[in-house]
Amino acid sequence: MLVAFQELVEPRKHDAESLQRALTVGWCVELLQAFFLVADDIMDSSVSRRGQIWWYQKPGMGLDAINDAILLEACIYCLLKLYCREQPYYLNLMELFQQNSYQTEIGQTLDLITTPQGNVDLRRCTEKRHKSVVKYKTAFYSFYLPVAAAMYMAGIDGKKEHANAKKILLGMGEFLQVQDDYLDLFGDPSVTGKIGTDIQDNKCSWLVVQCLQRATPEQYQILKENYRQKEAEKVAPVKAVYEELDLPAVFLQYEEDSYSHIMGLIEQYAMPLLPAIFLGLACKIYKRKK
Ligand code: IPE
Ligand code: MN
Ligand code: MN
Repeated sequence: MLVAFQELVEPRKHDAESLQRALTVGWCVELLQAFFLVADDIMDSSVSRRGQIWWYQKPGMGLDAINDAILLEACIYCLLKLYCREQPYYLNLMELFQQNSYQTEIGQTLDLITTPQGNVDLRRCTEKRHKSVVKYKTAFYSFYLPVAAAMYMAGIDGKKEHANAKKILLGMGEFLQVQDDYLDLFGDPSVTGKIGTDIQDNKCSWLVVQCLQRATPEQYQILKENYRQKEAEKVAPVKAVYEELDLPAVFLQYEEDSYSHIMGLIEQYAMPLLPAIFLGLACKIYKRKK
């Protein structure tokens, strides 16, 4: 958020108060993320986040965490009002946060209804469905939201400019979530700070989509018997199938291809903004381990 602000707003407008406002809006993005994650970890029955036992599992917390999630979201609008109410971009920022929250919530719905609890129908895990899930649940709020907020703060509110930036940023968001799906199983929990649950939760993850495209009937059978079983010992047979199919190598190739794809999007759609903003973001996520 702050980097985008500094790139987009001319240096003579980097006074202390403007920077404070940019930092505050950055915190609002962070609060939105915290709101979604507190709720997401309840829905996904996760156990840890950022290297700690997760919020709803703290002693005495339980489902009271739902109210904390709602409060985190309310804080966004309190802060925006407190710091930005007098600014010409106030309404644009409010609508942006609301619209991106709604899109993320639609994404979370898609994530949950694609593979409902108690119904292991892997045929629903198609590449097309996976793309919609990740676009909505991750890409809007993680990349478009902070850059679009900085654009509004810089007075850039044209439809065309936003549509162009969105093309690049949604591409990056899709890539970020595929990495998340990969790291869920193949990441190092001491680095990612969380223990994956996608197999136990029956998620339409990038890994299972790739697996289904390549599996032999025998491998498909193993998947059917072990996917979505809460017991941890059912994870190993699924992981073994993924390894037999060389999915870590498939992922490396995807990462290379996706990087070139994003560079192409930047070339095509960055103007009139500076490509540096997008290139800087791409560098932050490419080959990330956490
Ligand atoms: C989370 O998706 C997306 C949002 C919180 C909106 P995941 O459920 O795949 O994310 P992790 O793996 O728990 O972080
Ligand atoms: Mn989730
Ligand atoms: Mn989750």
